Amino acid sequence: MLFNERIMGAIISTLLVASLPALSQANVAETAKQCDTCHGTNGVSKNGKVPTIAGFSAATITEILPQYQSGARAAEKYTPKGGKASDMKEVTKDMSAADMQAIADHYAEQKFVAASQTVDAALAAKGKKIHNKNCEKCHSEGASLADDDAGILAGQWKPYLERQFALIAEGKREIPKKMKKKLKKLSAEDIKAVTEYYASQK
Ligand code: HEC
Ligand code: HEC
Repeated sequence: MLFNERIMGAIISTLLVASLPALSQANVAETAKQCDTCHGTNGVSKNGKVPTIAGFSAATITEILPQYQSGARAAEKYTPKGGKASDMKEVTKDMSAADMQAIADHYAEQKFVAASQTVDAALAAKGKKIHNKNCEKCHSEGASLADDDAGILAGQWKPYLERQFALIAEGKREIPKKMKKKLKKLSAEDIKAVTEYYASQK
């Protein structure tokens, strides 16, 4: 009896794995087109509220998408020009782990382009010092390195970053404990300065 259950279990898990096909090449292109309606052509955003995701490591994206899917990370409604309103929870609702991996691989291959925005150079210089002291260890090379798997903050949109700092402060976004500890030491003015530093990078 026990033996049969084991065999059945093995057959069922084989069937489950077999029924999880990754997005085909054509489907990746189709899905990317939907992502791009909000995130911009090839994931390079033209709108301050939507982050550029081009060039992010696949590991970062596959870590983030399930957080939206489960609701662990708050998602904001956004209406792209000529498209319909949605949010990241809705977008990820029916995505399997294989789908997430395929779309993550796609964006990892695109080139990150810094947002074109005005910055306060003096404030950015202050922010650079704060970053080097507290954040560089995980957000490497001025927070520009995709391979540190902590996102790309250098050249990211300021309104998006400001919103993320607010969500983190409100406890609506999970972040590593060590980052929380570092952030706690910073004043609102310091956070403004690091945001300016990230936004200032080209
Ligand atoms: C309806 C618009 C919309 C669509 C479609 C959309 N996104 Fe998003 N996405 C957003 C917005 C707005 C944010 C940032 C605000 C938030 O967290 O809700 C975001 C955030 C993200 C982030 C977090 C980036 C970071 O730096 O932490 C990733 C990754 C992401 N989206 C990937 C995708 C992928 C992959 C797709 C397609 C499968 C997609 N998005 C489709 C609007 C959209
Ligand atoms: C222990 C490592 C670590 C330290 C130290 C750290 N971070 Fe992070 N940070 C991360 C990771 C990992 C993420 C991605 C979390 C996720 O979305 O899953 C992140 C995410 C972020 C985000 C959101 C990025 C996005 O794309 O939405 C911001 C903003 C940020 N960190 C700023 C900072 C600042 C400013 C400091 C220094 C005061 C700092 N971090 C220190 C690891 C760290």
